[in-house]
Amino acid sequence: MQKNQRVLTGITTSGIPHLGNLIGAILPAIQASNSDKNKSFLFLADYHSLIKNTDPALTHSSSFEIAACWLACGLNPKEVVFYRQSDVGHIFELAWILGCMTSKGLLNRAHAYKAAISDNETANLNDLDKGITMGLFNYPILMAADILMFSADIVPVGQDQKQHIEMTRDIANRFNHNYGNLLNIPEAQISKETGILPGLDGRKMSKSYNNTIPIFSEEKQLRKSIMKIQTNSLEPGEPKNSSECNIFKIYSAVASPSSIKEFQKLYDEGVGWGEAKTILFEELNGFLKPFKGEYDKIIQDRGYIESVLIDGASRAKEVSTPLIEKIRKAVGIKGF
Ligand code: TRP
Repeated sequence: MQKNQRVLTGITTSGIPHLGNLIGAILPAIQASNSDKNKSFLFLADYHSLIKNTDPALTHSSSFEIAACWLACGLNPKEVVFYRQSDVGHIFELAWILGCMTSKGLLNRAHAYKAAISDNETANLNDLDKGITMGLFNYPILMAADILMFSADIVPVGQDQKQHIEMTRDIANRFNHNYGNLLNIPEAQISKETGILPGLDGRKMSKSYNNTIPIFSEEKQLRKSIMKIQTNSLEPGEPKNSSECNIFKIYSAVASPSSIKEFQKLYDEGVGWGEAKTILFEELNGFLKPFKGEYDKIIQDRGYIESVLIDGASRAKEVSTPLIEKIRKAVGIKGF
């Protein structure tokens, strides 16, 4: 069967992924990439990371670790076009072209930029643009170029990125109107916010709440994290409600249906929180072990990761090269 639906998504290269990312984004993306109807493009948005991070060593190591993480979690680089944004110069060329037909007013309305302005307002600053870089301001244009350079059909993203896809569509329509229909108009596929994995404190698991469970930590560290999960003050022997319990929710995300049923029985019988946490630890440790084993192996082999990404970039350029050539011509940048 021909894989003719192009699914593209960018991976921000900052911070090492946690269990919430693994369950909510990484594994579903890898699963979708194995589907017969999809041709997947997954890339490391390493130039996007410069917006938040000015430490070169960190920029470099994050990109490496995140590449290793996706490979360890089962991304098949033969099926997926897996590449670094920075290896495909055409993206940045297109970003400039798109910028020249994007009104500043559109970007003024971007959530991330507006939030930065509003922080400065709250802080009573005279200069509302203080600390805001052109990188932050132009972010949606680079993201549009990421997507449009590969004629993506579907872009799976979180709810927070929805506006960026709408902007991408706007920008693409404007280009097509001016220069002819060269850009494919993508659809966002917004991941469901239901069943979000809770963090240690019960809020959504997120780096910004500092409530995450790391995926490649040592057993001791994993156990320590789990012991920190907040619970209510019910004593052992008192029946417990699993539907409001963070331990149970995390367990359910990784265990088999029959194990979940058994765990439920323990709740009805009044399992103690210490015991429930130990059961979660055992289950989670078993679930994560193969990923961690693979990760520890892969990060030893920089050459392998590099060669996978170089190969991915060359396959990406097979797609971007003919399109950028048409785009250049369409805008009038061509030989005499
Ligand atoms: N902005 C996205 C995020 O923060 C990452 C990203 C960059 C992206 N370019 C993209 C996602 C293109 C989808 C398509 O998660």
